[in-house]
Amino acid sequence: MVLFRLCFVIACALVVGAACPARAEPSEAELSRQFSEQVAPFLKTYCHACHGSEKPEAEFDLTKYNSLAHVAQDYPTWDIVLDRLLAGEMPPADAEAQPSKSAVEAVTD
Ligand code: HEC
Repeated sequence: MVLFRLCFVIACALVVGAACPARAEPSEAELSRQFSEQVAPFLKTYCHACHGSEKPEAEFDLTKYNSLAHVAQDYPTWDIVLDRLLAGEMPPADAEAQPSKSAVEAVTD
């Protein structure tokens, strides 16, 4: 993922009221599968320790996003998530689990 393509697809849907036909974007079903297989495990491993359901940092609970539909409903938040991931700010340098560059690329590409 996919987060980038996801944001693109959702932004398009918001703006023109339909999925963008111009580019060969993955279908919603495909994105949904990629979310479950790639993004959800990534969040669990690298983010949930701090952004869990109990006393989450920045009051930001990432465990509630367990499907693509949840992410889509809260699209602006995911723009921030994407920014922080790409900036290398999340997870913070002192976090126990650090994703490799390729792991970040796999979810943000
Ligand atoms: C070691 C604990 C820790 C881990 C792990 C962690 N975060 Fe954070 N996160 C924080 C803290 C502390 C803040 C608040 C300070 C800040 O914004 O930099 C924060 C803030 C954020 C914010 C801003 C929320 C807002 O409302 O502005 C986002 C988005 C975010 N984190 C995403 C993530 C993602 C995605 C991951 C996993 C890749 C992650 N974080 C992993 C501690 C953590």
